[in-house]
Amino acid sequence: MSPGLALVGLSVIGTWGVASIAIIAAGIIMIFFPGEPVPGGSDNTLGGVFLLVGGLVSLGLMQMVVAPLLGIDPPLPISAKKIIPHERMKRWVSAGKLTDYPDGLPKEIRLRSQRIVIVRMGNRAYALGALCSHARLPLAGFPGSPIKPYPVQEECITCPFHGAQFDVTTGKVVRPPFTSEWNEAHPFLGRLQSKLFFFNKRAEDMQTYPVKIEAGEIIVGLPR
Ligand code: FES
Repeated sequence: MSPGLALVGLSVIGTWGVASIAIIAAGIIMIFFPGEPVPGGSDNTLGGVFLLVGGLVSLGLMQMVVAPLLGIDPPLPISAKKIIPHERMKRWVSAGKLTDYPDGLPKEIRLRSQRIVIVRMGNRAYALGALCSHARLPLAGFPGSPIKPYPVQEECITCPFHGAQFDVTTGKVVRPPFTSEWNEAHPFLGRLQSKLFFFNKRAEDMQTYPVKIEAGEIIVGLPR
């Protein structure tokens, strides 16, 4: 996908997402603050339920249908896609100079609309999907927020949200989210959230991408 098309896709997704969230918020307000009933007027609570359901359906449609059709990673947590083998990734795209990446610290980029994390380790580099397979949150954290990327240790990338670890060379899960050690050290992202995520405490293997280094430049293979 060309950068122009990717921009159009992202704009569609962004506008759709914001509009859906606004409809959901309006529904919630009408349900919980219906106001005084007006004789002969419509039922605000019922209208709120319609808006809430409509907003949720719209958000689901965007994530499950529109985002995949546009070839864009959905922005909210849904289950990870199936792993694509490297043999099917022959669309080579430059990710910039090796020296543009901090040594041993994951950095998220967008390549042809796909969110990818590049991990540079000296003269080598690896590429993985940018969204953690546990809850689809960004492995490199949120830029400018306190949730920052973790330094790579023993070839493992650590998700800064709930502590799942993946081998950067294979994408395999090395440690699940919410280990007791993680929860102990992280009262909010560990101990508290492990209770909220009672329904999902598993991570799956991550998608990796083939990488070549040519003349100091990182070239990543993407699916066709
Ligand atoms: S989102 Fe990565 S461990 Fe939960």
